This record gives sequence, C-alpha cells and structure tokens, in this order.
Amino acid sequence: MEIVILGGSRQIGKLAADAIEQLIRRKPDAVLGLATGSSPLPVYDELAARHEQGLDFSRASAFALDEYVGLPAGHPESYREVNVHGPDGMAADVPAACEAYEQAIIAAGGVDLQLLGVGTDGHIGFNEPGSSFASRTRIKSLIEQTRRDNARFFDSLAEVPHHVITQGLATIMAARHVVLVATGAQKAQAVRDFVEGPVAAICPASVLQFHPHATVLLDEAAASALKLADFYRHTYENKPAWQGL
Ligand code: F6R
Repeated sequence: MEIVILGGSRQIGKLAADAIEQLIRRKPDAVLGLATGSSPLPVYDELAARHEQGLDFSRASAFALDEYVGLPAGHPESYREVNVHGPDGMAADVPAACEAYEQAIIAAGGVDLQLLGVGTDGHIGFNEPGSSFASRTRIKSLIEQTRRDNARFFDSLAEVPHHVITQGLATIMAARHVVLVATGAQKAQAVRDFVEGPVAAICPASVLQFHPHATVLLDEAAASALKLADFYRHTYENKPAWQGL
C-alpha cells in the first residue's frame, strides 16, 4: 500500500487524475470504478477540466461501487443519476440484480482503476464493519453512523435509506489498481485503523493491505493520526520518477 500525503484536495485531485489520464491514454477502453460521496469530487473536477481540454473518455466505461435500495429513478441521490453502470436499487429480485452486476463487470473485462473513499467507520463501498473479505455484490444494511454521515445529502436523516447494494470486498479487491482518497480530520481514525491497524473485518478498508497495487491519497488532516507519516512523506519525496503511482 502506497501512502501519499499531500497539501490539499486540489493536489489530490490532480494526482489521481494523472493516474486516470495515464490509464486512458494507455488503454482508451479502460474500465473505471467510481465512488460517489464528497471525497472523489476534486478528482472528478480535475477530470472534467482535462476532458474540456481534449482528454477523450468516449471508449472508457465506468461502474459505480454501490447504490441505495429503494430510491426511484430520477431521485437526485440515486447513484445511477451519475450516468455510469450501477447496481439496480429498484430491482424486484435483488440477489439476481447483484449477480447481474458482477457479471457485467466481468464482461467489461474487470475494473482497471477503482476510485474509493472511506467511511468514518472504515467502510469501503458500503461494506460496513463485519463484512466478509470474500463478499461480492449484495444487499447490506447501513450502520447508523453512516446514515448520519450521509444525511447531509438528503433533506433529513429519515430519508436516508437503510439498505444499499454494494460491490463486495472481494469485488473491490479484484480491481487492478485501487486509489483511495480521504480528506479531513473526521477520517483520521479510520485512516489510521486501515493503514496501520490489523487486517480485520471490523475495519473493512484494512483488506486493502492485501491488495498488490493500492494507493492512498491523504491530506494532512486525514493523515494526522498516522504513526509513520514522516516515513510515508520521505518515501514519496524520494520515489524514482519512473515509478508513477
Ligand atoms: C460511495 C461509497 C462510500 C464513500 C464513503 C465516504 O460510493 O462507496 O464508501 O466513499 O462513505 O464518503 P465521503 O467521501 O462522502 O466522505
């Protein structure tokens, strides 16, 4: 796992966008895995700017990590509104929809680069604490802490669904490159737990310690509880330029 501590969201957005741009130039039909929420917004802003300057995504495809169950088509907080492949949160047969989503990812050739955020409880996708490391796309219940964290996107806490469909931890681990973005002091404990704590289901993001190519992009606040922060800074500053992310 590579830990990169940067000055702020703008630099994080640029660095993640560099990795995505290099991928798209090398493989125009690349498959991107996209997270929703606040963390990846600087990355999307930067990609939108590069698109306006000519970066071509027309052959690329994208898969969302997760979706709320029960939000009707057209609801602004439905993740399908972001125009990528997503699990069907309105499916009558949820297990069949989950299996179809797994098959769609496989049919597309698998995810080349998966962008992730992390929850304050250590979730990735909506794999809440206790999720199996072997899990695939399935329905999950949200922990109250996550519902409260996400209430800012809805008119009230009561409107935040209790159920979601999420790619599983094994689905996420199958991506060839994982880039996790975390910013702000509210993420510091989760970051410390998954980067430097034991690999354990109580902290789902800790499974990324087993990923052969995981990059973690942090601002200073999100990195503030890391024991080895100075070592990560030193390592990144002295990294051979040819290595890239
Ligand atoms: C969103 C997702 C979640 C978020 C996480 C952090 O698709 O899968 O894991 O990445 O809840 O959310 P933000 O970035 O809003 O703090």
